[in-house]
Amino acid sequence: MSGAGTPTVPLLEARRVVKDYPSVKVLKDVDLSVAEGDTLAVIGPNGAGKTTLFKVLSGEVFADSGSVLFRGADVTRMPEWKRVRAGFGRSFQVARVFKDLSAAANVLVAVEAAFRNMPPGPRKLLACDPARAALERVDEALDEVGLSARSRVEAKLLSHGDKKRLELAMSLVLRPTILLLDEPTAGMSPADRKSSVDLIAAVKTRHGMTVVLTEHDMGVVFDLASHVAVLHHGEMIATGSPAEVRENPLVRKIYLGSGAGHA
Ligand SMILES: Nc1ncnc2c1ncn2[C@@H]1O[C@H](COP(=O)(O)OP(=O)(O)OP(=O)(O)O)[C@@H](O)[C@H]1O
Ligand SMILES: [Mg+2]
Repeated sequence: MSGAGTPTVPLLEARRVVKDYPSVKVLKDVDLSVAEGDTLAVIGPNGAGKTTLFKVLSGEVFADSGSVLFRGADVTRMPEWKRVRAGFGRSFQVARVFKDLSAAANVLVAVEAAFRNMPPGPRKLLACDPARAALERVDEALDEVGLSARSRVEAKLLSHGDKKRLELAMSLVLRPTILLLDEPTAGMSPADRKSSVDLIAAVKTRHGMTVVLTEHDMGVVFDLASHVAVLHHGEMIATGSPAEVRENPLVRKIYLGSGAGHA
């Protein structure tokens, strides 16, 4: 959140973003603003366009029109890999891990992929011995998400919750400035969900990251979010503090009052 007085540039912004697929207009002039340090939850019914918005923010797909700004700079057409290097971290609605690789190898692949073909200057980020520094980071990231004991286990043998944790480690290892989490607790048991919420809150605080997440579970939203944005049929119908959004009559009518919070 920005302090009183001087206006600061948002860390991430979407301005009038439009995205159509052949048979459906998915995002209709969507505006979004995320200040450094915020935890913004994007909520909305199934098919509202949340994942598509994440894809546009992360560069997996490009907007048809409108723009995406990162620290005030236009990144609308910047490819996803460049955004990763610029500080974007992302997890997916369905965890994307290499199922035949161990947990540690998955995290190492994430480091390798991000630094491959990088000129020597930025490679110094990995200190003087890149291989050793990378391995240390892998251990640190796995430890952070509580997967140290399973670092040699193939990803396909991990539980659903652990796969999501592994994906988080794959993002954290790159020390992102902003973390985009698409339904980080989807399909989890209540106990796993609680530990995921605690984990996200802990890593956010430890690293001072900004977090944008989509989530159907309102308990998770109101536990984690400093701000909430509501998408409905591709339109941003409300943004504000969790309390403001919860009290918004339109939101209550079309979303919170009508079967929201499904698994
Ligand atoms: N690649 C695609 N091609 C065509 N239509 C798509 C594509 N991706 C998404 N859509 C459509 O766009 C709309 C929004 O989908 P999106 O996945 O962004 O919604 P969502 O809010 O993430 O939903 P959920 O809560 O179920 O995850 C849906 O009607 C969906 O069918
Ligand atoms: Mg989705």
